[in-house]
Parts: sequence; C-alpha cells; structure tokens
Amino acid sequence: MPIRPAALAAACAFALLGAGPAAAVSLTPLPQSVTEHEGVLPVAGRFVVTWTGCREPMLDRAAERFQRDLARLTGVETFAAGGPALEITCAAADPGALTLEAREAYRLQVSPRGVALQADGPVGVLRGLATLRQLLETGPDGSASLPLVAIDDAPRFPWRGVMIDTARHFMSVETIKRQIDAMEQVKLNVLHLHLSDNEAFRVESRRYPRLHEVAGHGQFYTQGQIRELVAYAADRGVRVAPEFDVPGHARAMTLAYPQLASNPAGAPAAGLQVLNPASDETYRFVERLFDEMAGLFPDAYFHIGGDEVPDDAWAGDPQVEALMKAEGLKTKAEVEAHFHRRIHQALTRRGKIVVGWEEVIDTGTLPRDVVVHAWRTSNATARATALGHKTIVSAGYYLDLLNTAAFSYRLDPLDTSAAGMPPKDAEAARKLHPLVARFVTDGVIVQPMAPLSPEQEALVLGGEAPVWAELITDEILDSRLWPRAAALAERFWSPREVRDEGDMYARLAVQQDRLRRLGLQDLATRARMASRLAPGASEPLLVLLDLVGPARNMAHDQRVPALLRGEKFVQNFNGLADAAPVDSLVARAFVARAEHVAAGDAEGRAALRGDFEVWAANHRRVAALAADHPAVRDALPVSADIAEMAAVGLAALDALEVGKPLAPDLAARAKTVLDRADAFEAASARPIFSFFGQRPPADLIIMVTPGVRALVQAAGG
Ligand code: ACM
Repeated sequence: MPIRPAALAAACAFALLGAGPAAAVSLTPLPQSVTEHEGVLPVAGRFVVTWTGCREPMLDRAAERFQRDLARLTGVETFAAGGPALEITCAAADPGALTLEAREAYRLQVSPRGVALQADGPVGVLRGLATLRQLLETGPDGSASLPLVAIDDAPRFPWRGVMIDTARHFMSVETIKRQIDAMEQVKLNVLHLHLSDNEAFRVESRRYPRLHEVAGHGQFYTQGQIRELVAYAADRGVRVAPEFDVPGHARAMTLAYPQLASNPAGAPAAGLQVLNPASDETYRFVERLFDEMAGLFPDAYFHIGGDEVPDDAWAGDPQVEALMKAEGLKTKAEVEAHFHRRIHQALTRRGKIVVGWEEVIDTGTLPRDVVVHAWRTSNATARATALGHKTIVSAGYYLDLLNTAAFSYRLDPLDTSAAGMPPKDAEAARKLHPLVARFVTDGVIVQPMAPLSPEQEALVLGGEAPVWAELITDEILDSRLWPRAAALAERFWSPREVRDEGDMYARLAVQQDRLRRLGLQDLATRARMASRLAPGASEPLLVLLDLVGPARNMAHDQRVPALLRGEKFVQNFNGLADAAPVDSLVARAFVARAEHVAAGDAEGRAALRGDFEVWAANHRRVAALAADHPAVRDALPVSADIAEMAAVGLAALDALEVGKPLAPDLAARAKTVLDRADAFEAASARPIFSFFGQRPPADLIIMVTPGVRALVQAAGG
C-alpha cells in the first residue's frame, strides 16, 4: 500500500453521516500505511475494552494507562460510561518481548462500530495504543472523536534508542520516567543509560560501595531505584541498556579506588582517567562490578564504553610496557583490544552481549559478536559492518549538540558518508589550537564511501539519539530531548522514503502538544526559568524565547574557551540560552507561513503582519525589563535585531501589497540585519569551530531569519 503523508490527507473532508468534520490525521512516527475514510467515531467516555488472545498484567496496566491518557489528551472524563468498543487481539505471547525480536507489528481499524487493534504480540499492543492516542482529537465543541482509519504498521529497525548521560548531570528517577513516558508515545524502545564517566559513578554498588559513596557525589540511583526504572520501562516496551565506560572515561572509578588507575605515580594526568590494563586487580574489579550490574539490568546488551582513551594514557607506565612485551602488543589500540577481550570473555560467560563505542574495533581483532556503536562518523557504520559486527548508529544524532530536528532527520542510519568532519575542515581545525589538533584524528574525519552491501545493511540494528549532559541539567532534559527525539523516532521506525521535512515539522508541532498534555515539562520549565530571570515580568521573555534558539555545538560552554586560555570558568545553567527551545516550532511555523507568502499566498500576509507587530511591541517590553535584569540586558541586541526584522518584514509586505520593489534603504537595512543573524548562526554551525566563532549576544541564535529573508527576497530586496 502506498504511503500517504497523513497530515496532507483529510484536511477538509466532511463526514457524510452528520458526525461532524473529520479530524486531520497527524501521526509521528508515520506508519507504514494509513488509509483514511470519511467520518469519525465519537468518544464520549471510557473505552469498553475486550481481549482476545494473549493477556498479561502488563497489558491490563497498559490499557488502564491508555484510559487515563484519554482524559489528559481530550478532557473526556473517563469515569463516564458510553465510550466506544476497543477490541484488542494479541496474536501470541512473546518471550522475546524485551529483545530485538519483539513482536511489534500491529493493525488498527477505526470504524463506526468501534476500534479493532490486532497485534503480533504484547509490545505490538503497546505500539497500537500509542498510535490510537495520536488519533484522538478534540473538536471545537470539546467533544472527542477518532477518525475512521485503517493502519498497518511495523518498525523499520529493532533498535530505536535514546542515550541519557547521567554522569555529567544527574537525572532524577522522576525525570527519567518522564522521558520513558514520552518514548512510549513515539515508539522508541531502548533507553541507554550512561552511568559512569570521569565526572561520576551513578549506581549503588554493594561490592564496591566507594563507587557511589565517593564518586556518586551525593547523587546516584539505589539498586531499588534501578529495578523500579527497569520495570517501569519494560511496562512501556522500553529496554534499559546500561553503560559503564571502561577503560577510559573512568576518573570516577579511580577516584573511588585509586589503585585501579594507570600510572598511579601521577605521570600524565590522562592516566587518572584510564584503568590500568596491566593489573589483575583491574580485571577482578571490572568483572565483579559488571557481574553485579549485569544482575541489576536484565537486558542482554551491556555497553562497556571503550571510547576516547587518550593517546598518552599509558605512556611510560612500566607495568603497561611489561604487558605489551609479554603479550606482543605493539600499539595503544592493541592494549585496548587486549583489555576488551578479557572483559568480553567475562560478560559473555554471564550471558551478555557486549556493546562498545566504535573505537573498540580499531584493531579489528575483537570477537564478531561485539556490537559496535558508531558515533564519530557514518564511515564507522561501514567499517564495523564490513568486519561483520552488528552496529548501532549515533553519528549525526547527538541531540546535545543542539542542531535542528531536520539536521538529524535527514541522516539515514544506513548512509555511510553522512555525518562527520569533512577533510578540508579537519585541516583548518588542526590549526585552531594545539589542544584541538589532538582531537582531530582520522577517526573524526568522514570520507566518501561506497553504500552498504545488503549483508552490511542487515547488520545495522538501528539508531540512537544521545544527550550528553555537559550543558544539560535535570531541569532542561525534557527540552533538549523533545520534540526532536520524536523526529528521530520517525527516522528509526518509518520507511526510509518518509523524508518530507515540512510535513515532519507540521506533525511534530502536533506531537509536541500531545507530549505536553501527557506530562512533558519542557514548556513549564521554560516558564519557570524565565520567571527566575525576570520575576513577575517574564512574559516578554517567553515571547522572545519562541523566536530564538541556543548557540549550537557546545558554543554555549564557556568552560572550553577558558580551558584553551588556561583558565577555569564556572558555568551556570540558568541563562536564556539554557531556557530557549532548541528548534522552536513557533519560529518554524512562522518561517513556513512566510515562505508561503513569499511564494505568492496573498491571504497569508495579514497573519505575518500580526507576527511582526507582536515582535516590535515585545522588543519595547524587553527593553523596559533590561534596566533591572542583567540576563535580559545581555539579550537586548537579539531582541533589537528581531524588532528590526519586524520593521523590514512589514516593509516587504507593503511592497508585495502594492507590487513595487522594496525601497533601497530598507533593502540595505534588511541585508545588514539578516546577514548578521546568518553569521551568528554560521559561527556555531560546526563542532570545534563553534568554540572559536563569534558568539552571539546571550548565546542566542535568531530562528525566524529564513522566513524574513524569503519575504524580503520576494519583495525584490
Ligand atoms: C562519545 O561521544 N564519546 C561516545
């Protein structure tokens, strides 16, 4: 069946039988096939659920959650009777429900008689209920309904993940649960928890209690909380895959147990971040710790990190030199592989499948059953699968780098050359600073590569969107993950051909609203942060924040340039750039409207005038606030530029109205302000270069620029 961009369909179809206007279907991720019929099924109260086939307590809880969400989504009181029939057929129990073989396919039929959900297995029921939530609509009179549709759906990839870094900033149990709730709504199914790093170790260990007592820095998950999270996720068809990073990124472990460090005598500082690969005590520690953690996390996959061991980590360490001699190891990478082989042996005996970041294949000598996690470039996907490793793709999907939803949505997990640093950039980057040159290794450079063979494609398990937490606190995690993770959920679930970005954004705005109705806190948090910056007078800041976004690619991290200057800087996480949405869908919607008008839609002009008048008035209010609020003062030039865009935008509309080109002085003003905004955006568009570019005032990028530019160009400016 052909794929129909659901948002385009049924826009103005009216039901024949007097049931009111049909709702526009807007689903994220887009199912494999959607067929819409005219008419709606009214939803007046609680669904009357009947079951056929497999049945288990998890499904009863899922049905109850669905009824509760019905109230949140539509306002229908679910204690009221009179809802439609919901007949759920679950074809077979699924012992592999929390594995890559989970039976996730489902069919959904909404007819005037009620809803029929047929699923391959229990997880398929969850996926079908997630779609059913998205189909619920509230009409203008407050009544709820479902459009009449037939949906046939199954995922493209079995691994559709999110990675949350709990080491740089601790994320509370409540916050993690909220992310799992949202994941269920868009059919993401793997929560990869990054639980140890240089900064902290975040799980209670009974065998090595100093890990949480000393290196947890007061914030860690008890074993009871881990069990609670794993069960909570399982109920929502989400697997929890833990990561404990070794042998590098291990400063927390060596803080707790200094005898594990390489070069304990203190030669290069890098040694403190890396475990000693030449000591039996290290292996005893890692094996006993991983054995304990493997018992806490039932998932088959166990991520051992393996990334970014500094070149000089083991330099001059006599123990490591002796090991190399004894084992015939010639390079640092071979020492790493020696380390990984021993850990792999222990974890395999424990029944686990080892996952490691792409560096683990640098020597090409690891057992083929190690799953490789590509992160620096898309080339790694090609290299890992050529060696026969199953592969998870995160290259290009780093949500903490604060790129737009479209930036990552565009990249297909099977693409071999999409993400990474182009060779010509590498050359320039190496010249920026000696410290930077150390990081610009061949591994980060992307080269053109042949497409994957069918055999290689079959080894790609799917994709994962990481949020590293250098700049992301518990408070803002919701806004750094969502709604962009929903766009990536579509990339990992829907057919490869689904790639219309305009359609994606239109549906993402709807899905963002649903996630908020179901409990996502991004908007509430933004309001709280704005109210801290301007107590009692934060409303103009909220208007401003809808039109901007934070500088990208860690440009906001002022600790890095300070470090490069040899200074220390204490970052705060409470500024306008922290509060700003990453890819404002309000700004997106403006840009889409402006592009329509630029393309000839005369009727849209009035709405744009309204936008520009709001921007101009808002700037006057922001300016009035600035006197008393330093954070607002920093953002004043941004607000002023938006007001200038409003002025030239209005002039462009006037010009379009009378069919005359924009006056030269206004065209020049437009060019100045639009070019300045583009230059600030370009300054943080590339990682690494982002640390050296000119930072925009308050680290804020203006997100409405392309719409204003389109109008100005249409008006001959
Ligand atoms: C990583 O980002 N170091 C895997």
